This record gives sequence, C-alpha cells and structure tokens, in this order.
Amino acid sequence: MTGVAPVDPSAPDPAAIAEAAARLRAGQLVAFPTETVYGLGAHALDREAVRRLFAAKGRPPSDPLIVHVCSLDAARDLVVALPAPAPRLAARFWPGPLTLVVPRSSRVPDEITAGLETVAIRAPAHPVARALLAEAAIPIAAPSANLFSRPSPTTAQHVLQDLEGRIDFVLDAGPTTVGIESTVLDLTRGRPVVLRPGAVTIAMLRRVLPDVETLAPAATAIGAQPSPGLLVKHYSPRAPLTLYQGSGDGLARLVHDATAAAAVGDTVGLLVASEDLARLPLGESQLRIVDLGPSDDPATVAARLYAGMRELDAAGVDIILARAFPSDSGIGEAVQDRLRRAAAGRVVCA
Ligand code: TXA
Ligand code: MG
Repeated sequence: MTGVAPVDPSAPDPAAIAEAAARLRAGQLVAFPTETVYGLGAHALDREAVRRLFAAKGRPPSDPLIVHVCSLDAARDLVVALPAPAPRLAARFWPGPLTLVVPRSSRVPDEITAGLETVAIRAPAHPVARALLAEAAIPIAAPSANLFSRPSPTTAQHVLQDLEGRIDFVLDAGPTTVGIESTVLDLTRGRPVVLRPGAVTIAMLRRVLPDVETLAPAATAIGAQPSPGLLVKHYSPRAPLTLYQGSGDGLARLVHDATAAAAVGDTVGLLVASEDLARLPLGESQLRIVDLGPSDDPATVAARLYAGMRELDAAGVDIILARAFPSDSGIGEAVQDRLRRAAAGRVVCA
C-alpha cells in the first residue's frame, strides 16, 4: 500500500513532513515534490533502501542517482576535494534546479554512484523538499519518481500511475512549477560540462563559469555515456513520438502527416503551441490535441510537457507528432533536448 498525504506546497503540514521523514530514516521509499519534478526518495546512506529504490523504478543499476541535500555544507561528508567553482555555483543557484557532479567520498554507497568516483548533488528549492530534508536530517537519494524510461512525473497522480503499490508514501503538493529535470553540471573534468540542460541555462552558468561547455548532441548517440541519463531514448511516452522541426513550415507537414495517419485509422496525439490551434483540423475525431502553451513562453511549455505526453498515452494514441519549440532562450533549450530524446531519432525537418 502506498500512503498519500496532501500538503500545502508553500506551508507544508509539519505532521505530514514528520511522517515522511521518519519513513525515510527507517529505509522506506517516499516520493516528494521538488521544483522540477517529483523525486522518489530513499536514505542515501542506506544501501538496502537504495537497492529497493532501483527495483521499484525498474532502473538499471548502471544509472547513478542524485543525492539531495539542504546546502553545500550538508554535503561535505559526501565529497572529497570540492571543485573550486562549487561554492560560487551553490551560492548563486542553490537552492534550485542545478545538480553538481563532484568527486565523491567513501561514505557514498557504490549503489548511488553506479561505481563512479563522482557523485551528483543538488539542493532543491521546493518548500516541501526543503522541509523534508531539514526534518529527516539525512542526505536523500532521489531520481525522478517514474518507472524507468517513462516521462518524469510533475504531479503526485503521475507518481501513483507508475509506482502505486511499489513505494511506501507520497507527499502530494500539486503540480511542480519547472516541469523539467535539473541542469546537470559535471565539475570533475578539465572544463565544466553541462551533461543535461535544464532551467539553469548555459547562459546563466556562463556568467559564473565563462569556460562552461555543453556536450555536443553527437556525444549522446555514441557508446561511451558520460551520464547514463543521456541515453538518447529516455523521457519517452509509450506511443512513438516524431518531432517536426526545421526552418520551413513544420506545422503544415505535421498537419498533413496527422491527417494521413488518421485517415488509415490511427489515433494521433499532437503536442503543439497555442498559436497552432487555428491551423489544426479540430473536428477530426482521430486527433487528440495537447496545447503546450505559446511557443514564445518556454517556461509554460516546460511545465506542461511531461503531463502532455502522459495525457496522450492515457488517451491510448497510436502515435504522437510534436512541433519543435524555439530553443534559443531560457528553458527552451531543455524543452528541445527532452523532445529530441523522446523522439529517439524520429525527426522530420521541414
Ligand atoms: O530535477 C531533478 O534532477 C530530479 C529531481 C527529483 O531532483 N531528479 C532527477 O533524477 O532527474 P534522475 O535520476 O531522473 O536523473 C539524474 C541524472 C541522470 O541523467 C544521471 O545519469 C545523472 O543525473 N547522474 C547522476 N549521478 C551522476 C554522476 N555521478 N555523473 C554523471 N551523471 C550523473
Ligand atoms: Mg529520471
């Protein structure tokens, strides 16, 4: 049985937080909201709890976990030789959606790091996550609270869809605000490298770290995985998703392909922008349309993206066609990254 406790996202009920913290300390699995997505928490120093966490998600043991802490100070025991930029980055971006990969100490179980000599740490900003970390007073390992390779959960209902009966407890504080997982920044190489884009953008990082690099997209397609979460196919809905991008009229091509698929009996899910609606055949019963928001509002698109994928899967669509969104500002870069991964190579350039 999975217990569920509703909590006010801005003023979390101390009794619910105390119960969740006690369960974590006892080795149980507790899902909780962060500002990005819901995490599935386990006591990071309890190997048995961490093993159960991998089993509950169906996650391969080769994919390392992020350890959540209140502050850089709270992470001192987990880290040796803190990289020079870490305090500056933490001062600027924590608490918040930035994960730092740093050299790990021997206190961090191998199960967390998948045997790597590094550990990923993050101080989340969500008041519920912060209250839980403060009350539990332990480092909390927390991957996104979805089944492996499903879209990350942005509501407690998404968590229960995937993990009901497989985990012990969920703190339900309503939808998360950012909607896409944290930026992962590796500080253990010659130069700092963004392994996964997120709400803390390259441009924001560059102001603190002028030499920050981003992984070339090609690097994610080849065998050597600097971060297993960078496997090309990830963050995916069940129905195959095709991404329409390019400088031409991608939407015309998308509408054409959607209509053709509907004509042969497929149920087609569309992930589009608000301004696209006027150009879609809205009366077509074979189409399920999700409006992700205005294309010039990447924060709204990010917040709705995973819920949109799950909505189309729940509607039982056979295929999903998604339009590309501008990737040149704010979290748009991360939206583009997640859509590309969900498409797993099915990209139409119009
Ligand atoms: O926003 C987030 O980061 C959410 C919330 C719950 O905090 N968590 C999350 O965790 O997205 P997860 O496990 O779904 O993604 C963690 C990512 C994976 O891509 C993993 O490979 C990478 O971080 N990672 C973890 N430890 C690493 C390490 N030592 N070196 C390189 N990459 C690492
Ligand atoms: Mg994940």
